[in-house]
Amino acid sequence: MEHTEKIKTKRIKIEDVRHPKDEELLEAAQILRNGGLVAFPTETVYGLGGNALDADASRKIYAAKGRPSDNPLIAHISCMEELAPLVKEIPEAGRVLAEKYWPGPLTMIFPKSDIVPYGTTGGLDTVAVRMPSDPVASRLICLAGVPVAAPSANTSGRPSPTTADHVWQDMNGKIEMVVDGGAVGIGVESTIVDVTGPVPVILRPGAITQEMLDELFGRVEIDPAILGPMKDGVRPKAPGMKYKHYAPKGDLTLVELKDETIEELYKPGSALYSRVSRMMTDSGKSWKLDPESFYMAWAVNEEAVRMEKTGARVGVICTEETMDEYTVAVKRSIGKRSSADSVAHNLYAVLRDFDDLGVDYIYSESFSDSDLGHAIMNRLNKAAGYHILKV
Ligand code: TXA
Ligand code: MG
Repeated sequence: MEHTEKIKTKRIKIEDVRHPKDEELLEAAQILRNGGLVAFPTETVYGLGGNALDADASRKIYAAKGRPSDNPLIAHISCMEELAPLVKEIPEAGRVLAEKYWPGPLTMIFPKSDIVPYGTTGGLDTVAVRMPSDPVASRLICLAGVPVAAPSANTSGRPSPTTADHVWQDMNGKIEMVVDGGAVGIGVESTIVDVTGPVPVILRPGAITQEMLDELFGRVEIDPAILGPMKDGVRPKAPGMKYKHYAPKGDLTLVELKDETIEELYKPGSALYSRVSRMMTDSGKSWKLDPESFYMAWAVNEEAVRMEKTGARVGVICTEETMDEYTVAVKRSIGKRSSADSVAHNLYAVLRDFDDLGVDYIYSESFSDSDLGHAIMNRLNKAAGYHILKV
């Protein structure tokens, strides 16, 4: 951990994050070129950058994060010309995806070239590459003149940082510089797609969704490791997905509605339909909430209140639409049920918030897992250790 001691971390603020000036980024670029570490904003989450071609810089990244060094890093580039030197070949699917979704929240796995050290790829013969669209990230990488290895800029085991303050909490004193580009846009990490095989395989869901990829390729595969708890002996293709990514200090339970429940909620005459209609009319919410959201909030609140009565400190993760339904003391809105974008954007900040609040138990609403919802539910499920309460 030689690198993690007594560094004076500099923090610079970018004035206009849409149009960063080179003068603002030259020092950061110089630090990267010289083998130092700089945290910077991207459109997904903040990254902790170092020279991807310098095994020493990668070692410093692992040390600063406290991360196992068999977990490979993503090399970030700023233009297509920077891809070729890093890879043995660019498979056709890689070309198609780069054309369509780069720059953007998409990482692709390629066979690595000899110049990429095993220290960056965790010993793998493949390399993960991403071209971010964030103007600060893009300009910084271009000015650095080297590909930038960058995992999320959190201490291993904490939620990924979506603001410079989050980065500061975890990295102050451990790295040379934090570039403050404000809050990120998307809020969950990039989609990872392996393009080395006959069919593209999603290794981590993100803002470039399965639906978008299916549309391009007919059908893509999904690494089984991201669909549920990992069975013994199953190795995820993205080594990072094997770690119990982030577990909040409080015990997190996700509340999900069973298919039968949803069916009944919409079946006039069913017992549940009548009960929920009555509850909604009584609370004066029938005009405002759909039965599913109402029932979800009711169920989460029931569980939380039941636990509160045992004397435990309890918090709920709710939404703007359902916030008023809760009677528990501690509640945080994760966004709008009607906007997956807003939920992704706030997800990690809310989880960090609960760590600071020091609650014993957290109950969370769950969300549709189509489109961006797939990435949201993947992160929430992992944070909950797949602890799901079906009602
Ligand atoms: O949005 C993002 O991708 C952010 C920003 C900073 O760009 N970065 C990020 O990096 O999420 P990190 O290190 O937190 O996650 C990288 C993931 C890990 O799960 C790792 O196992 C996987 O990418 N990965 C990296 N290289 C790989 C490879 N050669 N083969 C398979 N998976 C790989
Ligand atoms: Mg990470």
